[in-house]
Amino acid sequence: MEYTFSNKISGLKPSAVREILKSTADPEVISFAAGNPAPEAFPVDAVKRIAHDIFEDETILALQYGVTEGYGPLIDELTALVKRRLNIGREGDALIVTSGATQVMELMTKVLCNEGDTVITEEPSFIGSLNCFRSYGCHLAGVPVEADGMDVDALEDVLNANPKARFIYTIPNFQNPSGATMSAAKRQKLYDIACKHNVMVLEDNPYGDLRVSGEDVPTIKSLDTEGRVVYAGTFSKVISPGIRVGYVVGPAEVIAKMTVGKQTEDVHTAMFAQLLVYHWLQEYDYDEHVAHMRTIYAKKLNPCVTS
Ligand SMILES: Cc1ncc(COP(=O)(O)O)c(C=O)c1O
Repeated sequence: MEYTFSNKISGLKPSAVREILKSTADPEVISFAAGNPAPEAFPVDAVKRIAHDIFEDETILALQYGVTEGYGPLIDELTALVKRRLNIGREGDALIVTSGATQVMELMTKVLCNEGDTVITEEPSFIGSLNCFRSYGCHLAGVPVEADGMDVDALEDVLNANPKARFIYTIPNFQNPSGATMSAAKRQKLYDIACKHNVMVLEDNPYGDLRVSGEDVPTIKSLDTEGRVVYAGTFSKVISPGIRVGYVVGPAEVIAKMTVGKQTEDVHTAMFAQLLVYHWLQEYDYDEHVAHMRTIYAKKLNPCVTS
């Protein structure tokens, strides 16, 4: 049979992703191409024990359908976590659990963009997100990345040229692929420009916890007084990417639409994975784990570091 595929999928070129995955599979190669976290940073013993306990004590909960928004107690834990660590918690915002941060990019595009709409991205940016935007028929408008993050003066020009842009996609911490971290001043400027041009912001922050030196920089979401920033978080680099647990914080109205969009994708994020993250957050010290991970990554950056 001859298959005819949709324009959405036909426009995507898998070759770059395939090449990246090929190189990470070769044990002789230390690949900087994909965002695979260090396996020695996975909390393996904790995960094994919690997984065992879940299937002993909460078997049916783990095996049954759950609600699309996510497991309630996990939502409460995450809400407290982002408030405490990132100063995220604006009145009028909501949080749902997603299947990785990848699903946040997908839901954001699904609820905000029609075919032909423009998404503004850093140039270069994460290929997975770019492919997601493209798969919805979005036009991409790039803004160069400098050593201290997105060139916000150029952003203003790009917005002037694309006044109907639907949102600005940014990875402010250790940007993939450039590695650049956006300065606090630029974050504020980006937010002010977004307000001036009445455009939303999608802040993708998978790497913020992996900082090995210097001070944490406030999230753009923590500057958000108007409900125009949607924040994508993930446990992929903190626990493991295989569990596929992420979350999104944003204006309740947008999150409600995302929930409807998620229903037709996966109904809900796997209950077992959500329970795993919930118990891990309850039983272990997040800050201690992050400090431990940072020593692992600091050693990778500079193998001479001894502690
Ligand atoms: C910038 C960026 N966003 C999102 C993701 C995907 O995250 P998740 O595993 O939570 O879907 C990655 C993965 O490497 C990434 O580099």
